[in-house]
Amino acid sequence: MYGTETVDDVVTGPPTPDEPLNAAETSAYDAAVRAAQQAPDRAEREASFEELIAADQRIEPRDAMPEAYRRTLVRQIAQHAHSEIIGMQPEGAWITRAPSLRRKAILVAKVQDEAGHGMYLYSAAETLGVDRGELLEMLHEGKQKYSSIFNYPTLTWADCGAIGWLVDGAAIMNQVPLCRCSYGPYARAMIRVCKEESFHQRQGFEILWTLMRGTPAQQQMAQDAVDRWWWPALMMFGPHDSGEAASNGHTAQSMAWGIKRFSNDDLRQRFVDMMVQQADRLGVRIPDPDLRWDEERQQHDFGAIDWSEFKAVLAGDGACNAERIAHRRRAHDDGAWVREAALAHARKHEARQQVQQDQQEVVRAS
Ligand SMILES: [Fe+2]
Ligand SMILES: [Fe+2]
Repeated sequence: MYGTETVDDVVTGPPTPDEPLNAAETSAYDAAVRAAQQAPDRAEREASFEELIAADQRIEPRDAMPEAYRRTLVRQIAQHAHSEIIGMQPEGAWITRAPSLRRKAILVAKVQDEAGHGMYLYSAAETLGVDRGELLEMLHEGKQKYSSIFNYPTLTWADCGAIGWLVDGAAIMNQVPLCRCSYGPYARAMIRVCKEESFHQRQGFEILWTLMRGTPAQQQMAQDAVDRWWWPALMMFGPHDSGEAASNGHTAQSMAWGIKRFSNDDLRQRFVDMMVQQADRLGVRIPDPDLRWDEERQQHDFGAIDWSEFKAVLAGDGACNAERIAHRRRAHDDGAWVREAALAHARKHEARQQVQQDQQEVVRAS
């Protein structure tokens, strides 16, 4: 033994309940996977974009598609990919300070998963004729956005719990319907991503569960993190479907194209209903005095979202906007030698193969 770091948190009782904790553990996910597996092989028949969309079939990179559909997907997939890699930073900051070796190992795996999600998504975007280098440049220059949630700071260890439980939980709620998105490469990437996100959400729940069974100071730390992350997590579903704070019409078009399957408010409502039960299990308070069960709707009513905060963070006034981009640029510059080495290796490999091919031809010809 080198120290006490392997003596892990004392957990009393089961660390997680048996019921589904997030959307990737519900029948909605299973149905999306089944739909993907049963997608008919349509190699024999040429169908137009409109016919394929009407028949709820997948659009593949080889298919003709309207330019507006392609552009919408590039923007959405790029923004999603950027969110995955920027999203490594808030929790990455806690890897060196995780409270035990077990927690550290889990956190490293989680942050690494997010890098992987970014890679799947940049690859999916590249099937639409863009280059990941261009997309990264747009991120670095502020021309493409990432999810605003990552512009909030992680002040204590409990933030890693709140992010896993709430932020990954909200992300899964958004992403499970994307497993049935009309664009094949994006939908297939989401099937794998959602399974991994599900593990992220469970580990967040478990961090909070452990803290809530700890000392009063640990319980306070968990509650404080939930207080700070609850409202930003609700904002992750985007503007309301109607009314003053409504979105600008992207939703209707994305739904008609089969990219989006449920409205922002619909997904937000499902998320709240799911989280209220889990907050009870954890013993944390949701920081919303207007939250109550509505018997008639059979759903929870909840308080008004502060959209001025959402807009301010989106516009660059969050606590960490500048820090996140500066860190990302630095990481990109520091990695230049890796990209150069990989390219040099690929060129060498190609040249060697060419020599082998030439030699084989000479042998055959003689
Ligand atoms: Fe992710
Ligand atoms: Fe995640």
